[in-house]
Amino acid sequence: MRDLSKLGLLLFSFAACGHDMANPGGGSDNADASVTPGSGDPLGGLPTGDAQWSAVCGKHYGDMITAKFCAGTTPPVLTSLADLEALLGLTVQPNPNNDPAINPNIRITLNSESESIGMRHVTAINPRAFIMTAPVSGANPQYQVLAFSRGEPFVELVANDAAAHTLRFFLVRFHPSCEPTCNNADLLTPTIEAGWTGYSLYDDATIKNTTLDCLNCHQPGGPASQKILRMQELQNPWAHWFYPERPQTLQTVHEFQAAHPAENYGGIPYQNVYASRPFVLMQLAQNNGFAQQPNAFNTLQINTEMTSSGSSATWDSLYAKSVAGLEIPVPYFMTPHTDPTKVQAMTAAYQQTIAGTLPRDQMPDINDTVLDTTLPFLSVRPKPGLDGRGILTHMCRMCHNSQLDQTISRAAFNIDTLDQLPQGEKDLAVARLMLPTTDAHHMPPVRFHELSQAERDLAIQELQK
Ligand code: HEC
Ligand code: HEC
Repeated sequence: MRDLSKLGLLLFSFAACGHDMANPGGGSDNADASVTPGSGDPLGGLPTGDAQWSAVCGKHYGDMITAKFCAGTTPPVLTSLADLEALLGLTVQPNPNNDPAINPNIRITLNSESESIGMRHVTAINPRAFIMTAPVSGANPQYQVLAFSRGEPFVELVANDAAAHTLRFFLVRFHPSCEPTCNNADLLTPTIEAGWTGYSLYDDATIKNTTLDCLNCHQPGGPASQKILRMQELQNPWAHWFYPERPQTLQTVHEFQAAHPAENYGGIPYQNVYASRPFVLMQLAQNNGFAQQPNAFNTLQINTEMTSSGSSATWDSLYAKSVAGLEIPVPYFMTPHTDPTKVQAMTAAYQQTIAGTLPRDQMPDINDTVLDTTLPFLSVRPKPGLDGRGILTHMCRMCHNSQLDQTISRAAFNIDTLDQLPQGEKDLAVARLMLPTTDAHHMPPVRFHELSQAERDLAIQELQK
């Protein structure tokens, strides 16, 4: 019982209660370090629906996602992922043999482990699906990528704004019909992909002071730096992607197929899964200026070192940067990051739910397949043995540092200047650490990190120094 059950709880409260975040976009008032418990909605307090659509479209961005969303005088009606993909021209036709005449302008890939906002609920049986513009040789000013994994009511998008020389990231927060009380079957089966009752379209600038911020990872150098596409594991053999050409990653594809033998996922027809390859995203990134990835994961070298000695100095140095808060979480040093026995049990439960032999409200969280001992290596839990300062650095610095936008309230808590922070700010951090994890104000955000009681105590002692 971990992550998704908590995320599920978060979802329950999304629509159920309307408390706003204290300071969604502005300065902070830290005179009083107590925190009023609020809702679990990380986007609480932001505009929604038509008002939010008008706000985004009023920015007149020059990317192709804006062009499609903002073509009319009212927001496009979207009641399913298929509607959204049709709007963006990203509908994928069945094409098991990669016939070039089918889906000529679209490419797909899937991963089984993600270092993004869905990092807690992406596995081989619940992958992250990517649908994108076909890469061309050389730069292609008009491209877009859609990313979706089941488990949460979000679709992530990016498109290039050639005129402005920047990327535009968007979050579609849709409303599945189960809200406000969604169970695992509502969120983790095809049910989540249709029957939407509404949606809100957010651009990256609007959500930058929320825990769903895209830019802490896609513009880690801060507002003056270039926004980037990310693919930490850019090169063959792609240990955490669907890549049927190597035994371990073939196993990943087989795990997916065992759970979803004839079921489309995220708009990807089941017939296309085996023929999909990660190099399509690699090429899109490389051809458009993102061949140099921060903290790049050299899969071949890490695999070789692991095979010969059971450990990898290359991986250790990548992980050290994540522990130092200098880089986002690193992919696991092995494939898979899940326990095969648990995956088998969850696959059986999933199939029983789909067949109707297991009541839908009894479906377990099928992503509860990661061994607890693995979590520190995924940076979900702090590296074992860290002191209070080390825990704060590993668990907070990614979002609280001197590089990121300093004009938003998040910047008032800064790990780089911990020793100079007013005690009031540190008291606020203690209060945030003590909030229930179902509260959107709880720190660190549960979608990324989780602390044991002992680890939290160490962090609090450090903040009380
Ligand atoms: C914690 C870091 C993190 C955050 C926060 C994050 N991303 Fe990403 N994103 C990644 C990584 C890493 C990848 C590469 C694939 C993966 O790991 O799943 C990625 C991939 C993507 C892709 C596919 C194109 C590409 O860059 O490879 C899209 C689209 C995307 N993210 C959109 C978003 C949006 C929209 C947001 C904000 C709502 C967001 N991301 C927030 C880390 C992040
Ligand atoms: C994924 C990014 C992320 C991580 C990781 C994270 N935070 Fe935050 N934090 C935010 C965002 C976004 C806000 C602003 C929204 C809000 O107030 O909830 C914030 C706000 C805060 C604030 C209030 C700042 C103010 O003065 O208004 C404190 C204190 C804080 N975080 C402490 C922590 C601590 C302590 C950790 C690690 C144990 C942590 N955060 C980890 C994203 C993050």
